[in-house]
Amino acid sequence: MARPVTRFTCSQCGHESAKWLGRCPGCEEWNTLTEEATASGGRANARGGGSPRARAARPVALADVRAHEVARLKTGIGELDRVLGGGLVPGSLVLLGGSPGIGKSTLTSMALGNLAGAGHRTLYVSGEESAAQIKLRAERLPGAALSVPVLAETDLDVVLATLEAERPEVVVIDSVQTLVASELTGAAGSVGQVREVADRLTRLAKARGIATVLVGHVTKEGSLAGPRVLEHLVDCVLQFEGERERFYRTLRALKNRFGSTNDVGVFEMRQGGLVEVADASARFVGEATRAPGSVVLAAMEGSRPLLVEVQALVSPSEIVPPRRVCTGIDRNRLALVLAVLGRHAGIGVGSADVFVNVAGGVRVDEPGADLAVALAVASAARGMRLGRPESPVACFGEVGLTGELRSVAHADRRLAEARKFGLAPVVGPESVTLKAAIKEVLPTARPVAA
Ligand SMILES: Nc1ncnc2c1ncn2[C@@H]1O[C@H](COP(=O)(O)OP(=O)(O)OP(=O)(O)O)[C@@H](O)[C@H]1O
Ligand SMILES: [Mg+2]
Repeated sequence: MARPVTRFTCSQCGHESAKWLGRCPGCEEWNTLTEEATASGGRANARGGGSPRARAARPVALADVRAHEVARLKTGIGELDRVLGGGLVPGSLVLLGGSPGIGKSTLTSMALGNLAGAGHRTLYVSGEESAAQIKLRAERLPGAALSVPVLAETDLDVVLATLEAERPEVVVIDSVQTLVASELTGAAGSVGQVREVADRLTRLAKARGIATVLVGHVTKEGSLAGPRVLEHLVDCVLQFEGERERFYRTLRALKNRFGSTNDVGVFEMRQGGLVEVADASARFVGEATRAPGSVVLAAMEGSRPLLVEVQALVSPSEIVPPRRVCTGIDRNRLALVLAVLGRHAGIGVGSADVFVNVAGGVRVDEPGADLAVALAVASAARGMRLGRPESPVACFGEVGLTGELRSVAHADRRLAEARKFGLAPVVGPESVTLKAAIKEVLPTARPVAA
């Protein structure tokens, strides 16, 4: 039997070659050529005006297209359903990416368990773990996780044939990098293999209406499944994030053809699997210390307001230059806020060490966190508590270079969330300048560490 034809394509510039080369002749990059299957038939003569045999198709007016409302498949995990935009859409492809050990297999096993429990046909394909390992995990998960049929297989053809035979409504492929298409010689996980595997799974998923979740590893560079080949192909890209030393894990949509990309789900890993943290604000506010150097930030996690505690410590330094250490916020924003504090609000930290931390391992990547950093540092520098002891202060707002406070998105929702937890006053952009905001909540006294 003749070997199927493959070609080698440069993942950087798209140069094509009949044989593998260490260095691409097109862009002169090393190790960028990856093997791919050539589409059978027609592609070569499709150049120019198209094949003479092709019949012209008739475009349809969108108003005449009949689209029936499809019921979404609820995974039973509220936070996951919300991030997906209301559940899995039949026939759609979802790529779930995340670093090793973050809980991708746990999340997908739990979702399939719930779906199986609700009477849907499911299938869990694992190329990484044996059926026995999967069972061990399922045993500690709640619900019907043990009733999900599993297939431990890495051969793409076998997986596709099984999908055709079983016709599940939802399938999880854990992970897309472990499946191999036998007609390609590239190793499992190479760009060519991943693209071929995803392409063939997509075709089957669309043709048979199977909701497919592809689990993908995050590469060293932090991108999903190598170059962004998969991200274009799938309908929805979910990123599962969190660091080993932090106990909260967030799930966010980077792309979603059926919903918003603003929503974020918050989880915590426990013995019994991933537990949704539906009211993270309550927990963070409850744990807030109310000591000098602490303030509650009314942040936004996607479209959801979240109250987190920002803490600062200002202490005399023994080294030059002094330390500027922060976790959970951007280092450059800290430098900016410290400069504005010194120049426009009269609170210079000079040669003191400054540490800023967002408690609970949360990361806030928004300009609205500036004011919280400024107030926490001001309070730490003066060694005085913000506001009155009985009611902790909440704040949000961007600090401008001229010392002004700038408005940020969703002010009303941030305010409402802070009020819900009895935080008062809520300092925001209405204070106009950083200096005025500090005056409002910080009693005047001689700075102790300036
Ligand atoms: N008994 C347990 N109690 C609490 N947490 C556990 C327990 N067993 C495993 N875990 C957590 O589950 C994580 C592994 O989850 P999971 O296998 O779903 O991750 P993954 O993202 O699929 O990893 P990989 O990239 O290796 O496939 C571990 O890192 C650990 O934090
Ligand atoms: Mg896994």
